[in-house]
Amino acid sequence: MCGIIGYLGYRQAYPILINGLKKLEYRGYDSSGIAIFFENEYKLYKTKGRVYELEKKISSCRGQIKGTMGIGHTRWATHGIPDDINAHPHVSNSDELIMIHNGIIENYYAIKVILLKNGFIFKSKTDTEVLVNLIEYLKKENKLSLEEAVRISLNEIIGAYSIAIVEKSHPGTIIIAKLGSPLSLGINEKEFFVSSDPISFIDYTKNVLYLKDGEMAILKKGKDLDLRKIIDNHRLNPIIKKLQINLNKIEKGKYKYFMLKEVYEQSKTISDTLRGRLLIPEKIICIDGIESHKEIFVNAESITIVACGTSWHASLIGEYLLEELTRIRVEVEYASEFRYRNPVIGKKNIIIVISQSGETADTLAALKLAKKKGAFVFGICNVVGSTIARSVDAGAYTHAGPEISVASTKAFTAQITVLVLLALIIGKYRYAIDDNRYKFLCEELGAIPEKVNYVLKMNDTIKKISQLYHNVNNFIYLGRGINFPVALEGALKLKEISYIHAEGYPAAEMKHGPIALIDENMPVVIIATKKGCYDKIIGNIQEIKARKGKVIAIVNKGDIQVNLLADHVIEIPNTDEILSPLITVIPLQLFAYQIAFSRGKNVDQPRNLAKSVTVE
Ligand code: F6R
Repeated sequence: MCGIIGYLGYRQAYPILINGLKKLEYRGYDSSGIAIFFENEYKLYKTKGRVYELEKKISSCRGQIKGTMGIGHTRWATHGIPDDINAHPHVSNSDELIMIHNGIIENYYAIKVILLKNGFIFKSKTDTEVLVNLIEYLKKENKLSLEEAVRISLNEIIGAYSIAIVEKSHPGTIIIAKLGSPLSLGINEKEFFVSSDPISFIDYTKNVLYLKDGEMAILKKGKDLDLRKIIDNHRLNPIIKKLQINLNKIEKGKYKYFMLKEVYEQSKTISDTLRGRLLIPEKIICIDGIESHKEIFVNAESITIVACGTSWHASLIGEYLLEELTRIRVEVEYASEFRYRNPVIGKKNIIIVISQSGETADTLAALKLAKKKGAFVFGICNVVGSTIARSVDAGAYTHAGPEISVASTKAFTAQITVLVLLALIIGKYRYAIDDNRYKFLCEELGAIPEKVNYVLKMNDTIKKISQLYHNVNNFIYLGRGINFPVALEGALKLKEISYIHAEGYPAAEMKHGPIALIDENMPVVIIATKKGCYDKIIGNIQEIKARKGKVIAIVNKGDIQVNLLADHVIEIPNTDEILSPLITVIPLQLFAYQIAFSRGKNVDQPRNLAKSVTVE
């Protein structure tokens, strides 16, 4: 993943870079570094760990860092462990070229072998150091300008990148280029801001150019932007847009971690997702992206939903919702698998891509493949103006607001909310849903935010239960029907923030294998709400208890049967089964949080993860 940043202008670069890197830490926080340029020299600082560690390292020599041009990087390790040496920026053998990179150079090894044969030496294990030396090698061998050496080198590269590179002896120029990884350029009179995400420069400018794949830009002090195609050096007209991001300062408030804050925000965020789209008294649903493409949805032969991680779990819930309410055949695929198959899709197939960040590399690649095959692509994204949001044929934003915690919570319920709206509106267009049921579901949906508030009041109960289990090593999560993906999501939340092994299964699958794991040391979290196969779920609980497993059950208020069997119950309000994931997932999010908190983990920034996965 990684986040890259650069500045070229008249202000001191250091504070712009450091503050920008802090805003990019959601992209990776293994290590970070900056290089600041002054006349024909530069100062380089890099360290393992978060940006504040970098700041700490620099603090003693802070006064010496002067310069109005610089580049910086926050890393999520791909090639080489997170340490000071593998941290970016990377410097070429002659100490002339200094570069930062986000992405993966797939053919780095073959290039490294050639460079080694030509006398190059490598300090780090990174693919980036290979690329910066390739540029140096081609530059020297062919007596090229930096821009030409960069361009020719990039044409030799297989993989994905966004880069920024500077030549020490030619200060006042930064060259940037993009393929596959996001890169935006903020532009003011006499200054340029480079970043993986415009959020890091929005305090300075709202004029943004999103580089497209295969484009590079030459930024020179006091000169106009020079935008080119990497393949043939063809000059391009820059299209500068106005950023629409509203940057209210995001604080944790009374919460210890953003995750807890975001869990607690869900009543509001679901309301925000519904706002202007569900008119409750009139029972009208309007989503622009659907209305303007009504015929496509009415005549669709199938829908394939493509996503990763938590968004993939939302997609599975979408499968239940859309098939039930629209009677269109729905499939769900991991984006990472879909993109490398040769899926049978065409004009009559709709592809829905779901992504909180709107930047996930696999989801973006799947989107491009679907478009190439002529399918209509509808996007559900949270981040406004993100690459996926800009690339789809139509879409609906989730409007959950910035999600800071790496573990996704409020974006998940917002995605489900959009999927419910989609299923209802398409079902109505296709006359696939009975009018009374449609009206009932509209009303029930409007009541969900209040019910979410009720579940949040269970936090103390959940905390007490979690304190009994925070030392165990394994968990099983079970659910049935539309709550099976919720079990998967509960297990994912627990493992990513507490590092406890957890698996989710459809409850009935237990007897086909996982039941062998059940003994007095195995806690099982089971979604046992009154609807959909309640009696079967009771049977599953009996089976667990017969083998001395511990049962933590999510039940509806007033439940008697499960209460008698389970070791612990968490009571939640009743709703229509099809809407229940919006409620059943909340106690699972809180449970994962409480366990991770009791184990003393950094809930918001779990090890090895990043918020935005822009590498495959
Ligand atoms: C888990 C989590 C990840 C993301 C996944 C896809 O809590 O957040 O599994 O859901 O990386 O990310 P987006 O939705 O940004 O495409």
